[in-house]
Amino acid sequence: MITQEQNDRLTRVGPGTPMGNLLRRYWHPVGTEAELAKEPVQRVRWFGEDLTLFRSTRGEYGLIDERCPHRLLSLEYGIPEENGLRCAYHGWLFNAKGGCLEQPFEDVAHPESCFKNEIKIKAYPVEALGGLVWAYFGPEPRPLLPRWDVLVREDFDRVIDIYTLPCNWLQCMDNSADPVHFEFLHAGYGNYLRKKEGLPPGMNPARHRKIAFDVFKYGIMKRRLLEGEPETADDWTIGHPLLFPNILAQGGVDAPNLQIRIPIDDTHTVQLVYRAQKRKPGAAPQPIAVKHSKVFDDNGKLLVNAILSHDALAWIGQGPIMDRTRENLATSDRGVVLYHKLLNEQMDLVARGLEPMAVIRDRAENEPMIDLHREHKPLSAFDSRYDNSLDLVRKHADVVAK
Ligand code: FES
Ligand SMILES: [Fe+2]
Repeated sequence: MITQEQNDRLTRVGPGTPMGNLLRRYWHPVGTEAELAKEPVQRVRWFGEDLTLFRSTRGEYGLIDERCPHRLLSLEYGIPEENGLRCAYHGWLFNAKGGCLEQPFEDVAHPESCFKNEIKIKAYPVEALGGLVWAYFGPEPRPLLPRWDVLVREDFDRVIDIYTLPCNWLQCMDNSADPVHFEFLHAGYGNYLRKKEGLPPGMNPARHRKIAFDVFKYGIMKRRLLEGEPETADDWTIGHPLLFPNILAQGGVDAPNLQIRIPIDDTHTVQLVYRAQKRKPGAAPQPIAVKHSKVFDDNGKLLVNAILSHDALAWIGQGPIMDRTRENLATSDRGVVLYHKLLNEQMDLVARGLEPMAVIRDRAENEPMIDLHREHKPLSAFDSRYDNSLDLVRKHADVVAK
């Protein structure tokens, strides 16, 4: 149990908040290359800020203020050009660095005017990697965009699966520091739902005997030992990482995924599941595809037919911002306690002007990629009903192929 003030500090992400300042020290995905190729101007909201994401006609990405600083037309209606985005109202042209390059009337009627040089629009640096467009919202000098193996390996095919959730980002992350829920939420509750449909149990994982959490360079390594498993099992000897501050890296060596939780604002979050799968020998590489998954059915009821939707139920079911002043933490929650302690420590570092953990600045460390260690086969892979294979995801997906 924590105080309201402590809960606010952990959950609020707007500009100038302690957590907002910490999260802004890392790169975050803000769009996909496949969707920007189809619709090159998009209105987006990240960390409580309304913004415009665009792709210029020469393929450069930009993330700038939502509105034109002239008469505040939304730049969602902008026209992409070679050098940037042109406002639809009076044609002011902005580049990805936030500079105003042209003001058509002023440029002709008052060519001596330097007014455009005085105009600067909010702009954040963006880079593309692994089919995602990433942005950095923090102070310069910006760190390197981490080249996690899942994003970079050439022997993988990939699907990007996006969920928009009406809840605070920390609920998703807390759940990733809580291995014990697996046997109850996914198996117990999942089986209960199946029974209601007249189906046999979907999964019966063994009970957790031990859980462990080790802080390492990039976050927290999570390990578990299940009843009946030897202590040499790689679930226990290796586990999988929670990448600080907002990514779960999971899924086994041949089908790894990243679950990235990006705050839209305090009460909305994108859960971006970046699924990779090792390509079969001799198979042709597939283009990266993008899917938007529904969280609710047409009647507004939560869909709970897969592992990830069980998790979404847990996150959304805790309320828009979970009231941690009312919780009663047990020993099974020590991963959550450790994760909050790390967040608090790192917020303190940022407040003192220091660099938080897991910020990457060393090119030799980042290139060609950062190899993430993880167990061979995750717990969720033991049930074929919850097949995470890309073929299955593609089959059920409303996919935007690049
Ligand atoms: S409102 Fe954008 S150019 Fe006038
Ligand atoms: Fe889960």
